[in-house]
Amino acid sequence: MEKFIITAALPYANGPLHIGHIAGAYLPADIFVRYQKLNQNDVIFICGSDEHGAAITLRAKKEQKTPKEIIDFYHKKNEESFKYLSIDFSIYHRTSSKLHHETAQDFFKTLHSKNVFNKQKSNQFFDEENNQFLADRYITGICPKCNFQEAYGDQCESCGSALSPTELINPKSKLSGKKPIIKETSHWFLPMEKNEKWLKEWIENGTLDGVPKHDPKKWKNNVLGQCKSWIDGGLQSRAMTRDLDWGVKVPLDNELGKVLYVWLDAPIGYISATKKWAEKENKNWENYWKNPETKLINFIGKDNIVFHCIIFPIILKEHGDYILPKNVPANEFLNLEGRKISTSRNHAIWINDYITDFPGKEDVLRYVLCAISPENKDSDFTWKDFQARNNNELVAIFGNFVNRVIVLTNKYWNGLVPKKHKITDSDEIILKKISQYPDKIGNSINTYKFRDALFDLIDLARLGNKYLAENEPWKLIKINPTRTETILHISLQIVYSLSILSQPFLPKTSKKISKLLNTNLSDWLSATKTNNLKSNHQIGTAQHLFEIISDEKINEQTEKLK
Ligand code: MF3
Ligand code: ZN
Repeated sequence: MEKFIITAALPYANGPLHIGHIAGAYLPADIFVRYQKLNQNDVIFICGSDEHGAAITLRAKKEQKTPKEIIDFYHKKNEESFKYLSIDFSIYHRTSSKLHHETAQDFFKTLHSKNVFNKQKSNQFFDEENNQFLADRYITGICPKCNFQEAYGDQCESCGSALSPTELINPKSKLSGKKPIIKETSHWFLPMEKNEKWLKEWIENGTLDGVPKHDPKKWKNNVLGQCKSWIDGGLQSRAMTRDLDWGVKVPLDNELGKVLYVWLDAPIGYISATKKWAEKENKNWENYWKNPETKLINFIGKDNIVFHCIIFPIILKEHGDYILPKNVPANEFLNLEGRKISTSRNHAIWINDYITDFPGKEDVLRYVLCAISPENKDSDFTWKDFQARNNNELVAIFGNFVNRVIVLTNKYWNGLVPKKHKITDSDEIILKKISQYPDKIGNSINTYKFRDALFDLIDLARLGNKYLAENEPWKLIKINPTRTETILHISLQIVYSLSILSQPFLPKTSKKISKLLNTNLSDWLSATKTNNLKSNHQIGTAQHLFEIISDEKINEQTEKLK
């Protein structure tokens, strides 16, 4: 049995979730988790709301609410969206909780007592009108690297460069819109450059002091590429604290008005959430986070690569006792109808809207988002493609196969699984193929190739359809009933395999198929066998798994985006 901590980036509780979030981190993580569970592995799936930072306070300001009102509202809403999409966390925790504040502060204190930080004076932008130091996100200006007009103080969203606010050309305060002045403050800095040597070895060779930790060949190229370019560019000291009144307070007596920066806050949220989960489940959290046997896998979007591959590992290693990530399978970005998803311009598909507009079609969205997952490069969601994949793949291939098999079994044998008689060479080939799918799909999931895995799932249904079309049991029944029984018996085994193998991707559909077959969900390996359904087992009556989505419905959605 393997042991896993699977995390998905904590989303800011400053707004609702859209399809880009789901495709970027949460869906692949959930597929991975479900697969590991079906293999009887010990998995905890950790997520929660990131409730600190300028993203929250800015939103509160805009809506004239308190930060607390904002986070309470979106925490609940986002938790519901995840539930609706069957993204099934072991815990969905909150960074505003006391337990989290204590945990993050303990981290700070440990690092502080180990003299990891340097306290440094620095010059920082200050908004005179609001009498406030400006967090990086409160400053926008022109990117010095690509000239993008609206770059943030910490990062340019156009070219992806990490910035410091003073590099911006023409900086403006988001609070007053005015040009901020520069004022001296002091902060606790993490000297990242001291960690360059082991980080390089760890990322590029997968070893720490020569001891193997992970296989860099299993890391995605986009992730390795970003890490290498950061390390080769030379690491610099980075401030781990901010002047802000919303967040985890710096736990030192004379540091009033300072909070921990997101780097020392949100990822510690994975740990505090695990503590909370362990409390509830009567488990030992250290048995996960401090156990070298545990595989820590962080699912994130590409904007968080450096955070999880460089900064978080430094923090964990400087603290000591903690394991480091085994892999950080970051996705690229999902676009929408050829343009970048934009929350401010409302160019997005919100999960809440989808829930209202497409009730009962949770698995369809999961299917499409997995099929177009931005695994290696940015990809594009279009409503036309959504419709085509639903109609041509889910309805015409997957649903159609399952339905025909159930209908025929009911029609000719009153829903009793018919006997398997003497099999032919072509049956033999089919049976062998069926038994190979679990490994094929599983290997793809284990190497984060979720699209390939999904295509193989559909391929199995396609194989079933082909088998039916070649043998035409609806005609054969009149000429050779015995042979027909064998064909349906084998087809039913395919349906059974689909009920298991679809589970990570289409959990609700998988459950429906189990119900149609009158079986319980078994483990992944059972799908390698081709005698799961015994003859004379009573199945249920047919019910469609998917339905055609009309042009009208799709046009409504494309109109809505304009
Ligand atoms: N909430 C932040 C973001 O969405 C950070 C998420 S990653 C985590 O970018 F490690 F901090 F959780
Ligand atoms: Zn730029």
